[in-house]
Amino acid sequence: MRIGVLTSGGDAPGMNATIRAVVRAGIASGDRVFGIYDGYRGLIEGKIEEFTRKDVSEILSKGGTILGTARLPEFKYEQVRALAIKQLQKNDIEALVCIGGDGTYTGALRLHEMGIKTIGIPGTIDNDIASTDFTIGFSTALTTACEAIDKLRDTSSSHQRCSIIEVMGRHCEDLALYSGICCGAEYIITNNSGLDKEKLLSSLKNDRLAGRRHAIVVISENITDVYQLAKEVEVYSGYECRATILGYIQRGGTPTPEDRLLAARLGKYSIDLLHEGITGVAVGIVENKLHYTPIEEALTMVNEPNEELHKLVQKIS
Ligand code: F6P
Repeated sequence: MRIGVLTSGGDAPGMNATIRAVVRAGIASGDRVFGIYDGYRGLIEGKIEEFTRKDVSEILSKGGTILGTARLPEFKYEQVRALAIKQLQKNDIEALVCIGGDGTYTGALRLHEMGIKTIGIPGTIDNDIASTDFTIGFSTALTTACEAIDKLRDTSSSHQRCSIIEVMGRHCEDLALYSGICCGAEYIITNNSGLDKEKLLSSLKNDRLAGRRHAIVVISENITDVYQLAKEVEVYSGYECRATILGYIQRGGTPTPEDRLLAARLGKYSIDLLHEGITGVAVGIVENKLHYTPIEEALTMVNEPNEELHKLVQKIS
């Protein structure tokens, strides 16, 4: 087979390890594998190059994506996708492995409907793809967030401050929930727990009156203006307060062993599925077993709140 591979949407650590696995597993199965640069944008522009095994050596531990990535909202238009099909036909590419999040999956689904064999691999730090237990990049972003929160605890405890830390996740709570638990945050605020500002302020005040020296509040992005919240905490709680937005630092860095392993497993699995004639699916890991779901279904699946972890937070925060 002649198989294309691309990365699209927000980059995630482990995308390179995934590209490497797709290229090497493909070549080992007798395929020819083509790297497509800059996501769907590069595809319509014909930025396509055949990869050898050597082309993907020494990228396993690198953050980012050697292919580059882009967001292309215009891909929703059929005439734009027709340009992609044209490029694929020109290069005789019959199958496409698309690494990214839900926007990437939507593009892959549309191409599948237009006759291209597609596979979606979950590559995003958000862990917001419900058809897999974990996405490639989440473990690394979680590690980065934890390192940062531990450091912020050092300084906030020295100064007897409250530290509000905003982590990424778009609309998924996992980065906040997991990092909050791993770092012993006093408060974890996510779209599922919600922000009850009055309750937070009065709890912080009571903590302070009871002699607590510092507090860590981990909050998901897109919930509130954390700088404003820090000002309100200062006014009402008795704590000095600082807000820190971790931001894009969470997207970079060398992937953790967990992300590398997931990348290797899902990359090879994608090639296996293509050889079995299974396409239009999103691959993932469910209870540590390889799993695939039709992309159409994967896109409608909803991330349920993790009740077990929420209960745990209530007991140990
Ligand atoms: O999807 C990954 C992510 O980093 C989200 O956590 C965040 O909301 C978004 O991408 C930021 O997107 P952009 O890179 O377009 O600013």
